[in-house]
Amino acid sequence: MNPSVQHLCEFLDASPSVYHAVAFLENMLSSAGYNRLHLGERWSLAPGGKYYLTRGGSAVLAFRIPEGDCRGFAISASHSDRPCFKLKENPELPGTYTRLAVERYGGMLMAPWLDRPLSLAGRVLVETEKGLESSLVNIDRDLLLIPNVAIHMNRQANDGYKWNPAVDLLPLLGGKDAAGKLMGLLEQAAGGKILGSDLYLYVREKARVWGMEEEFLSAPALDDLECAWGCTRGFLASEDSDVIPVLAVFDSEEVGSNSVQGAASTLLADTLERICAALDLAKGELLSRSFLVSADNAHAVHPNHPEYADPGNAPVLNGGPVLKFNAAQRYTTDGFSAAVFRRVCGKAGVKVQTYCNRADIAGGSTLGHISLTQVSIPTADIGLPQLAMHSCYETAGVRDALALEEAMTAFYGIPASELAID
Ligand code: CO
Repeated sequence: MNPSVQHLCEFLDASPSVYHAVAFLENMLSSAGYNRLHLGERWSLAPGGKYYLTRGGSAVLAFRIPEGDCRGFAISASHSDRPCFKLKENPELPGTYTRLAVERYGGMLMAPWLDRPLSLAGRVLVETEKGLESSLVNIDRDLLLIPNVAIHMNRQANDGYKWNPAVDLLPLLGGKDAAGKLMGLLEQAAGGKILGSDLYLYVREKARVWGMEEEFLSAPALDDLECAWGCTRGFLASEDSDVIPVLAVFDSEEVGSNSVQGAASTLLADTLERICAALDLAKGELLSRSFLVSADNAHAVHPNHPEYADPGNAPVLNGGPVLKFNAAQRYTTDGFSAAVFRRVCGKAGVKVQTYCNRADIAGGSTLGHISLTQVSIPTADIGLPQLAMHSCYETAGVRDALALEEAMTAFYGIPASELAID
């Protein structure tokens, strides 16, 4: 397998939760010589320096300072979270069987969650002698499953069944005797007394490359870990220019981005401000030569339902990254930002596709639209084409991930003069 694809699969398999995904990205950054900054400390930054910071364990920002002049910012934003089920407080539901109480995180397709091995992952806050410590937890075994009702008991199952998340989607943990044992299992994994937790269900299925030419990739959370990976790889591979490259991976996109680690927070704006203050740069001038690539996966035309796509703007798997357009600016791409992104891709030898919603189908929104409220710079909304968005097991094109890596490498090396427009 191509080593880049192999690395992407390793990332996907090592990311059963948003916290694990961010820990993997942090590890990529620190292995490449990036130094961790802390929000609560004074930043002394130097030309040639490489830095990153995290927030809440589920968002990560990285940047590096060129040796020469700094004349703008080249920024990408992607997201670390995925639609899934979150474990509730007091989750055990004892009875004939022991089930767990969960609630929806984001807008998922529900049916794919049934009849597959699941487990729990996330982070817990453990009480230690020094105070609270955050600890990653992954119960790395087949622990849970949400069983379907047999067709004999629900003859309507194939006629558009309406799932009730409070009834139909409760995972089975064990028999009657399993009651009272979950916290012990979690505390054993965490290594201490748990005072708080953010734990999510995940599917145990690993990333797989498949198809006649091994051209497809299926895995949980391709939206948006595929983009987070491509942006991070491009960021790390890029050459210095006179822009400050900034990598941003936010949490909470699937629930509206309103959290301290989401795109609606001031995290990115504050970071740009602090970079300028530390290096005595004129922020307004730099922002006038700055650009944001908002990278969040896009809908590929569906093999069985081509009618849902706009006829002239229907991306295919393995056709290249997608520029997303929407007149109401739910996607922030405009003529200028599209032209900049197309130029970047042209330099990288990467083909670009376009996406518009069918005029009678309302689409989603993305990070670009939200982060613009905090940092107002030209933005291109892009993504990689995929199928089954918000399923717990999504499908994308292998070559598209590699194309994004190439495109983002070119983007992060762009000179500031190409980003300015009056
Ligand atoms: Co997304």
